[in-house]
Amino acid sequence: MTAPVTFTPSTVLVTGGAGFIGSNLVRWLLRNEPALTVINLDLLTYAGNVESLADVEAQHGPKGDGRYRFVQGDIRDAELVATVLGGAREGQGMRGAGTLAAAVPAPVIPHPSLPSVNCVLHLAAESHVDRSISGPAEFVSTNVQGTLNLLACTRAELEANPREFRFVNVSTDEVYGSLGPGDPGFTERHPLAPNSPYSASKAGADMLVRAYRETFGLPCLTTRCSNNYGPYQFPEKLIPLMITRALGDQPLPVYGDGMNIRDWLHVDDHAAAIWAVATRGRLEDEVYNIGGESEVPNIEVIQRLLAALGKPESLIAYVKDRPGHDRRYAMDITRIRETLGWHPTYTFERGLEETVAWYVANREWWQRVQSEAYRSANAMYLAGDEA
Ligand SMILES: NC(=O)c1ccc[n+]([C@@H]2O[C@H](COP(=O)([O-])OP(=O)(O)OC[C@H]3O[C@@H](n4cnc5c(N)ncnc54)[C@H](O)[C@@H]3O)[C@@H](O)[C@H]2O)c1
Repeated sequence: MTAPVTFTPSTVLVTGGAGFIGSNLVRWLLRNEPALTVINLDLLTYAGNVESLADVEAQHGPKGDGRYRFVQGDIRDAELVATVLGGAREGQGMRGAGTLAAAVPAPVIPHPSLPSVNCVLHLAAESHVDRSISGPAEFVSTNVQGTLNLLACTRAELEANPREFRFVNVSTDEVYGSLGPGDPGFTERHPLAPNSPYSASKAGADMLVRAYRETFGLPCLTTRCSNNYGPYQFPEKLIPLMITRALGDQPLPVYGDGMNIRDWLHVDDHAAAIWAVATRGRLEDEVYNIGGESEVPNIEVIQRLLAALGKPESLIAYVKDRPGHDRRYAMDITRIRETLGWHPTYTFERGLEETVAWYVANREWWQRVQSEAYRSANAMYLAGDEA
């Protein structure tokens, strides 16, 4: 059964829209929702890449049909977030390129008009577990303080200009901790037990979202998804890392015994689920789990990739396990399936085949993001007339 649409946003703010999931979500929204305007607020850290959206910019940017606007900036920047939420008049100065880390005033740049926002899809985050182990502070700053700033700015905007609104916080199955081999999948009622600084920071954000709903009545929902895969994923994550290394005949580093199990969700299925929650989600349900119903041990993922690429298993190199490495994640997606009618459409076989084909066909994209070159491309973009 599919629940009817209860809310039709006209302008969506996607945070982190130049990242892996964000760029796929922006493309999915513009393709599937012809009346929608999408504003992408992204700081362009190492993980953000405007090149992933070059086609979208050309078709839907200010020189196209105008349904897509990119704003470079930091979700921790209260002034900038308030301006974006409330809408900006043509030519009005908007602070851009602002980062809290750089203690220099951000430039004020004239910007084409922006409509006021009535839905936030919040994805901006530091997202890589290994990086959170070597440097947890940035994760707390972006994921916790950044989310708090977005919530506070949304609350202020809705108090000043009340309107129907949805705030969807995109979180992770990792907040639930780890499962044993025979345990049932996580339900939304599973206690939170994050084990890495990354998942702890995401759990912190989830709790703030809950608090803003309970304390201030903000119309917020949280989604928690399993491992995403698909095109445009930064090659530090398992699937693109292994594909790109295998293509270069480099050793494939596998943590521990390789028997850590993840559930794999195709990024397009994830985009459809986020939109289902934004438009049909029940505020009283608070949290929706999203999964691909494809539990696979890491080593098997790698074996399948090697087979698809025609590369030998001798490339596999076992390395010392990651500290605090969760053994197994699995999602119970009964709630979103039964109340919103969403379910994954990709089998892992089909999704993996398409993803391998994408990386083989888009060698230029991933070779550039592995190099420093794309950072200067991002900088050039900012110097252009949109920014
Ligand atoms: N990739 C997955 O498998 C997965 C699984 C579960 C949950 N998630 C969540 O989904 C979201 C997106 O994940 P992803 O894999 O696309 O991440 P990603 O690292 O590819 O992209 C993150 C984006 O956020 C931007 N960003 C970082 N700090 C920012 C800031 N302070 N202000 C504005 N923008 C900032 C980056 O520039 C980048 O474009 C994250 O919240 C992540 O925790 C991801």
